[in-house]
Amino acid sequence: MVGEPLNVNEFQELAREALPKMYNDFYAGGAEDQYTLKENVEAFRRIMIWPRILVDVSRIDMSTTVLGYKISAPILIAPTALHKLAHPEGEVATARAAAACKTIMVLSFASSCTVVEVASSCQAVRFFQLYVYKQREIAAVLVQRAERNGYKALVLTVDTPRLDNGSNLAAYANKAMDASICWKDIEWLKSITNLPILIKGVLTGEDAIKAAEVGVAGIMVSNHGARQLDYTDATINVLEEVVHAVRGRVPVFFDGGVRRGTDIFKALALGAQAVLVGRPVIFGLAAKGEYGVRQVIQMLKDELELTMALSGCPSVKDITRRHVRTERERLH
Ligand code: FNR
Repeated sequence: MVGEPLNVNEFQELAREALPKMYNDFYAGGAEDQYTLKENVEAFRRIMIWPRILVDVSRIDMSTTVLGYKISAPILIAPTALHKLAHPEGEVATARAAAACKTIMVLSFASSCTVVEVASSCQAVRFFQLYVYKQREIAAVLVQRAERNGYKALVLTVDTPRLDNGSNLAAYANKAMDASICWKDIEWLKSITNLPILIKGVLTGEDAIKAAEVGVAGIMVSNHGARQLDYTDATINVLEEVVHAVRGRVPVFFDGGVRRGTDIFKALALGAQAVLVGRPVIFGLAAKGEYGVRQVIQMLKDELELTMALSGCPSVKDITRRHVRTERERLH
């Protein structure tokens, strides 16, 4: 590819050129037939935007708050493993980009830079993503270390009782991680930390209700970027069921397949408070380090701003359910 990327999708090609094939496959791939991987992106294309006219859009305000932290736009950095495979500066570069873009980074439990390195490298608001080891005392040490180093929330990823791909990493994780963790263990987690707990990997209204009942601070609708269970529905297709189930009791966040500002607009219209972005951030990092991550976030912000202006939504709270129609709604 020649020239500057024009949109986030083009970073995927740049990353492919920059990375050894094995690393690129690790980042880009999904589970098994990769049906859900494709669907996560495709399902957005079946949702249409219904814009309003003659609204004063001379100023667009994309800012929002997440757990009380003000950010410049409803776009967070999703937790993804091993950023040093993409770039020698790893998660430190990603965190600096998050700070420059005034957004939140969720640091992966499987990061290649330490919790301390990332904390001391930037002013970004950081959350810490957690998997729970069989040896609970290790989880407790990690949680407390994150808390001490200024991480503002825990994101407990719950869609990974096993990893799926037969690699050494998967074998190690399957041995170390606690596949027996269940709803009652949220109480245990609450007992070892003062941080708010978000639960990542909710795909049904049923589980969303349970999550709200056990008192989490937020829910993340996610199918792990289609890397875990293939043939789950695209996350954008299940978002609304989750939003309806929680009835505003806790904020609902969203990830999976977000590649355009229009995707973010659609997720917000269907009830997400903000979206998280996984692969595009890694592709930006692989292509151009910190600058590439900044470019990726900035492109998404620019596209969201344009979408809001053209849809008659001067602020994120103006984006409503009536601004989108799903395929089913259009056919009836
Ligand atoms: C992930 N994801 C992930 N999630 C998590 O909770 N902990 C982790 O360590 C990882 N690691 C990871 C590695 C890679 C290479 C990818 C692509 C994803 C899932 C991630 O947080 C998020 O749910 C998805 O990436 C969102 O989908 P998109 O934006 O990649 O389509």
